[in-house]
Amino acid sequence: MPKRIVITGVTRGLGRAMTEEFVRLGHTVCGCGRGHKAIAQLRQAFSAPNVFEVVDVAADEQVKNWAGRLLESHGPPDLLLNNAALINKNAPLWTIGAEEFSDVIDVNIKGVANVIRHFVPAMIEQRRGIIVNFSSGWGRSTDAEVAPYCATKWAIEGLTQALAQELPDGMAAIPLNPGIINTEMLQSCFGHSASAYPSAEQWARKAVPFILQLSARDNGRPLTVQ
Ligand SMILES: NC(=O)c1ccc[n+]([C@@H]2O[C@H](COP(=O)([O-])OP(=O)(O)OC[C@H]3O[C@@H](n4cnc5c(N)ncnc54)[C@H](OP(=O)(O)O)[C@@H]3O)[C@@H](O)[C@H]2O)c1
Repeated sequence: MPKRIVITGVTRGLGRAMTEEFVRLGHTVCGCGRGHKAIAQLRQAFSAPNVFEVVDVAADEQVKNWAGRLLESHGPPDLLLNNAALINKNAPLWTIGAEEFSDVIDVNIKGVANVIRHFVPAMIEQRRGIIVNFSSGWGRSTDAEVAPYCATKWAIEGLTQALAQELPDGMAAIPLNPGIINTEMLQSCFGHSASAYPSAEQWARKAVPFILQLSARDNGRPLTVQ
């Protein structure tokens, strides 16, 4: 049965690779990102009913309008994947400026809340659908020089488990640690050693089947793509 899948942050990395794999398996992807050029390329590569829009998840009004259009054209999603995120440049917390700190919070926490605010009521009405919020190993442990990012991913674990307690039977909210994958984000924090890790495409071949089998039984369970 083809699923309707909303994914944030599809312009590169895990979001881009999941899009390709979900579409290959016959599912419909409704994706967003900020990069105009990459969104135009996605539109070329994946035709209707897949749809790609330029949306900044940190901007509540943009998310509201995007959700309104998608709910009208496609109906409530079966899977809502909050994947978009930023990482701070490696640095001790006390040297990170207020603006960079706010950007990480705005995208990684408020962006997820914005998406939930505008998509989840329609899912609740139907009492079905799975919400996957991308967490991290750094949502369950910490390291030096990534304090803002760690703070947001620990927040995602808490926010998601609280949401899980609010959802009706038949739905699930799941904090998901994707593992360690060689994307631009990993290159930013790991430098050259990022190349020792699997590519996003290799990861998607095991992550997509894993995500597709998630069910209401997984509500509130912190999971990791193995
Ligand atoms: N890679 C890893 O090893 C790893 C490990 C643990 C957790 N994760 C998590 O996995 C998810 C994906 O990470 P990744 O490695 O694929 O990162 P990435 O390569 O940096 O890609 C991030 C994606 O998010 C989008 N994005 C960023 N800010 C956005 C905004 N305000 N609005 C809409 N889209 C936005 C980016 O697109 P635009 O710039 O075009 O907006 C891009 O498509 C993240 O939640 C990350 O924290 C990754």
